[in-house]
Amino acid sequence: MTAKGATDSNTRMLSNDDTQHPDVRSSIFESHRVQRQSHINWLRDDPTNGLLAGRRYHPALHCRTPPIMIPTEPDHRHIRSFSGRRGHFTSGQRSAYEKLLPRYEIPVSSTSIDQAAIFGRDAPLVVEIGFGMGETTAAIAQAQPERNFIGVEVYPAGVGSLLRRINEAGLSNLRVIQHDAINVLQDMIAPASLAAVHVFFPDPWPKARHHKRRLIRAEIVELIATRLAPQGVLHCATDWAHYALQMLTVMSSDPRLENTAGDVHLAEEIESARGFAERPAYRPLTKFERRGLGLGHGVWDVIMKRRIDL
Ligand SMILES: C[S@@+](CC[C@H](N)C(=O)[O-])C[C@H]1O[C@@H](n2cnc3c(N)ncnc32)[C@H](O)[C@@H]1O
Repeated sequence: MTAKGATDSNTRMLSNDDTQHPDVRSSIFESHRVQRQSHINWLRDDPTNGLLAGRRYHPALHCRTPPIMIPTEPDHRHIRSFSGRRGHFTSGQRSAYEKLLPRYEIPVSSTSIDQAAIFGRDAPLVVEIGFGMGETTAAIAQAQPERNFIGVEVYPAGVGSLLRRINEAGLSNLRVIQHDAINVLQDMIAPASLAAVHVFFPDPWPKARHHKRRLIRAEIVELIATRLAPQGVLHCATDWAHYALQMLTVMSSDPRLENTAGDVHLAEEIESARGFAERPAYRPLTKFERRGLGLGHGVWDVIMKRRIDL
């Protein structure tokens, strides 16, 4: 039996009746598996294909199976900061994803978000890039009810996990965007509008040939800095010494940013560098951080503010 709609177009919404039939469901999953594999092969051929720009991909956000990213027309290009390997949903994550995404998701758009329409109020807005499983995101949003939070993540299981936390804790100040954060910042966040951007333990890309994939690189820091309001904060943390030095260097080099830790000394050895901050009380340990600490890694926070005079 052929899954109607699943093979001819991934952006077509299937009716609930269609998708409940076991033959249709297994056919849909098979169709998605094949398309995901061809998508991965396409990315392997040229990693710069990996943009998840809204105009290049149409996440099938409202079908009852995992979202599929479908390549469409090439648009502005950047190097992907995340890997194509996405892991598996647990049943709890899948169920939260299916039931709660429409309630707590901000749909991808090419226009700036309207905070009042999303949260029912205007408030200082914080964006977290790459929240993983979202435990830290939910904890910070719960501890700071006076602020609005948007978590951006490409990893569907992580999105499912955070959706469940939002629902269980009844958080009205936290919403989720499932998309490449670079495109979100470019298209959906107005210049000088953010109180803070959090980037906690971004993928370290330890091999030298992959350093270009690191999220905290000069052009992305520049993009983030333009989205911060005056005195807005860019807070990054990592457990990779080489990446910590890269963060300190590229963030210090952006003329819009000043280091909150005061005295900065850039160096090739982490022991000689200065300008790292103490972990502030508002940032709980993250999942990746605990794993790094278990492996004997150090942890470095870099916290910079957007200057008022620019
Ligand atoms: C190493 S994990 C850290 C997760 C979490 N912050 C923590 O500390 O436990 C990095 C996460 O960033 C996400 N990520 C990387 N690049 C991203 C991008 N451009 N947009 C959205 N998410 C991204 C990855 O999918 C991954 O889940």
